[in-house]
Parts: sequence; structure tokens; C-alpha cells
Amino acid sequence: MNINKKVAVVTGGASGLGRAATELLINSGATVVIFDMNVSAGEQAVSELGASSCHFMQLDVSNGPDVEAAFATILANLGRVDICVNCAGIGIAAKTVDREGQPHDLDLYRKVIEVNLIGTFNVSRCAAAAMAKNEPDEKTERGVIVNTASIAAFDGQMGQVAYAATKGGIVGMTLPMARDLSKQGIRVNTIAPGVMATPLMLAAPQNVQDGIVANIPFPQRLGAPSEFGQLVVHITENSYLNGETIRLDGGVRMQPR
Ligand SMILES: NC(=O)c1ccc[n+]([C@@H]2O[C@H](COP(=O)([O-])OP(=O)(O)OC[C@H]3O[C@@H](n4cnc5c(N)ncnc54)[C@H](O)[C@@H]3O)[C@@H](O)[C@H]2O)c1
Repeated sequence: MNINKKVAVVTGGASGLGRAATELLINSGATVVIFDMNVSAGEQAVSELGASSCHFMQLDVSNGPDVEAAFATILANLGRVDICVNCAGIGIAAKTVDREGQPHDLDLYRKVIEVNLIGTFNVSRCAAAAMAKNEPDEKTERGVIVNTASIAAFDGQMGQVAYAATKGGIVGMTLPMARDLSKQGIRVNTIAPGVMATPLMLAAPQNVQDGIVANIPFPQRLGAPSEFGQLVVHITENSYLNGETIRLDGGVRMQPR
């Protein structure tokens, strides 16, 4: 799909990987609507990237009616949705049974599932319904959805039982969603990033960062958010890429801890 003059929704677009995807889509000529909870970061993105090509809506991606209403607003104001990039996500660290012998907090487990897995599905289902209204483009496409999993979907570490389950769920729904939406001409792919240089990771002590980097075969560094954004652009533009999850991780395979 040619990105120029298209309308994209990027969840979690106020920060980190979502912000990088937003910037690269705008550089390719898209108008981007950011869905994020963080108002100050969302407004900062609009002021830095330009109010003509970047819009912000404060939303919890896991809220069904709010997300449906947001897509109705976008269709009313911008006329279409062509690209959807799901980056909103949270992480927690808790083992199945903790050191004191207490079982994993079930509400905490539900919360991560709610935001990462249900939030991704919620936005994707509404995006797909909006995309289905588009006239097919010259390549017979109506839309592209890019989800964000994690290498934790494949090599989840100790303490990642909830997070890895959400990311495994995103990987698992990629192919059936692509199949569901094949009649509408909508492609669905997922990126599974390794350890990326987002603000959270850069705030970790240098020795922690060095320990992570030491396990990465090549290149021996954290991934750049712009490299994630580049892959979002490539997936959007490459019409034959569908139903696939792509690791973006420098070849790393995480150890148990
Ligand atoms: N950074 C990494 O190393 C890394 C690695 C693998 C996967 N990921 C995944 O990439 C995605 C982005 O990560 P990041 O590092 O850029 O994180 P980040 O914290 O910098 O950005 C996430 C954004 O999502 C927003 N958000 C959180 N919950 C939300 C909700 N319920 N509704 C709407 N917005 C919400 C936050 O406000 C934030 O702006 C996440 O899904 C994360 O699991 C990140």
C-alpha cells in the first residue's frame, strides 16, 4: 500500500515504538491519529510533528464503546482509515508463585491481558470495519494492520508469565485475523521486537543494559525505535506480506532469566 495521503491510527503513539512508527508514517505522507492514555506526551507529539498531520485522542484501547466512538469520529472528520499500528502495551514482572509462596495476583494478570491482548483486538476489529468501507487501491488492498508482540511470545523469561501470554495471544491471532479479513483485502502482520532503546530501557542502569546487550549476537546494541518504524513502513508498503510475525531482535534468544 502506498502510504502517501493515507490515514493511520497508531495506538501507544505518544511514546517509544509507537511514537517512532508515527514519525515514519508521517514522513511517508500519512496523517496519523494517536490513541494513547498519556495526554501530555500525546499533545507533545502533535506539537512536534505538526497538527496538520498528527492528531491525538485520549483513549484506553481496551474500552470497547470508546474505541468504536473514536473510529466513528475519525471517519466523520478524516473520511477513512487505511493503516492501524497497535503499539499500546504495558509490562509487569511477577512469577506464577512468588518467593513467599503466594500465587500470582489474578487481577494483575487480567489487567495485562486486558490492555495488551484485548486492547489490540479491540482496536483491530474497529479498524478493520472502517477499512472495509474503503474502495480497493490499485493493488486491490483496503487496509493494513500491524500488531506489536514481543520476543517474549517465544522466549518469555521468569516473571513474564502474564506479559508473554498476551504477546503469544497476539502472535496466535495474526494468521486467523489475516484469513478473516482476506475477503476485504486487509492484511495483518505482527512485529516481535527484541530489546529496544525506548525511554524505559534507557532509564535502566548501564550494567543492566550491558548485560542484555552482551547476549545479542549482532549487532551488539539495543534496537532503535526508528528500526521498528522502518519495519512498520515496509510491512505497509509490501503487499505480499500477510499473516506473518517478524522478529526484530538482532538474533537474540532470551535465556530463562
Ligand atoms: N521497548 C521494548 O524493548 C519492547 C520490546 C518488545 C515489545 N515491546 C512492545 O512494544 C509496545 C510499545 O512499547 P514501548 O517500549 O514503546 O512502550 P512505551 O511505554 O514507551 O509506550 C507505550 C504507550 O502505550 C500507552 N498505553 C499504555 N496503556 C494504554 C491503554 N490502555 N490505552 C492506550 N494507550 C496505552 C502508554 O501511555 C505509552 O504511551 C508494547 O506493546 C511493548 O510490549 C517493547
